[in-house]
Amino acid sequence: MAFDFDTVHHQQETDSIRWDRFDRKKVLPLSVADMDFKSPPCVIEALSLRVQQGIYGYTHSPSQMPAMIAGYLLEQYAWQVDPDWIVILPSVTSGLYTAVEQLTRHDENVLIPKPAYQHLRLACMRANRQFQEISLELKDRRWVLPNHQLSTLVNKKTRLALLTNPQNPGSTVLTRSELKEFGDFCVEHNMWICSDEIHAGLVLADDKKHIPLASISKEISEKTLTLMSLNKTFNFSGTGLAWAVAENPDLRQAIQVGLHQTITAPSLFAYTATVAAIEDGEPWRQALIAYLRTNRDLIYSKINNIEELSIGNMEGSYLAWIDCTQLNHPNPYQLFLDAGLATSPGSQFGKDQFVRLNFATQQSRLIQALRIIEMACLR
Ligand SMILES: Cc1ncc(COP(=O)(O)O)c(C=O)c1O
Repeated sequence: MAFDFDTVHHQQETDSIRWDRFDRKKVLPLSVADMDFKSPPCVIEALSLRVQQGIYGYTHSPSQMPAMIAGYLLEQYAWQVDPDWIVILPSVTSGLYTAVEQLTRHDENVLIPKPAYQHLRLACMRANRQFQEISLELKDRRWVLPNHQLSTLVNKKTRLALLTNPQNPGSTVLTRSELKEFGDFCVEHNMWICSDEIHAGLVLADDKKHIPLASISKEISEKTLTLMSLNKTFNFSGTGLAWAVAENPDLRQAIQVGLHQTITAPSLFAYTATVAAIEDGEPWRQALIAYLRTNRDLIYSKINNIEELSIGNMEGSYLAWIDCTQLNHPNPYQLFLDAGLATSPGSQFGKDQFVRLNFATQQSRLIQALRIIEMACLR
């Protein structure tokens, strides 16, 4: 079956955070990480059927859900998990905040990458925990963890490491040996790890696959809380459902603090969407990856021809992390915004001289965005 990613949807009356933020006539918004494509037909159909039922009372996770998720993890990542290790959450973000609060005491600190998805840093700030940042290094065009430097960043009070893999921003898909080195380091230093793998279903590099950190070894698994969701891959983040996987019962207990009390359960539509994506979403996901690869290649060809810009390998997800240092502009985000393109400012992730471009959009829109960037750089 062919899937349509080219039709431009105008996203009017969809209450999209991204599309409602700026004047649509003046600004093309390729910022917040959701996609301009409709969800897969199987998801739309399942949601329509559920809407037609007309009964939307208090609900619970379908009983088969943990086993379905475990089956999906085995099929997609060759990761064998016991369904009892799975805890259903409303979002990955809430999981990050709970993890920081519950897995560290007030006087303990956290290790996070830089640049990083902003909620890693914000979760530490909200819990009032000190954090050390691991500055990622560009090596062979890939943003990688400087594993050799980790020991200089930790002390006896470092209790938790946060990771996003595939990375946001930077888009690196860490290899088995990179993950093992990082995981072993954390185990040796008696640290918990919270591994945010929400972008796992979006690996674009032909020579890479997603490897869950906790699948590397029993020792690493015992220390790791993995956060995952299909929200990103199948573009239903507005319905919101995530899950945590933890072999260690202490970690499972920690991630459930506040759940169904201050932290709400997912909506019934979220269960429906996730089940449909697991059961029937794979052909659509494969087609999506092919489309995103073409978009990624368009970006390489354009950005590599603009002398002042550079970009590393885009191995996973749909977020291009563009280095604008050579532009010598005080605020590259503002430069592009003034020219009619909203990216996500690098400052959001801890790097002022970068911008993050969301390329999960129709090719016609991406071409327009790249033209705007090119023209802005000529000024
Ligand atoms: C690394 C990462 N984690 C979590 C999220 C948000 O997840 P959720 O919508 O489940 O809270 C995002 C969204 O951009 C993300 O990039």
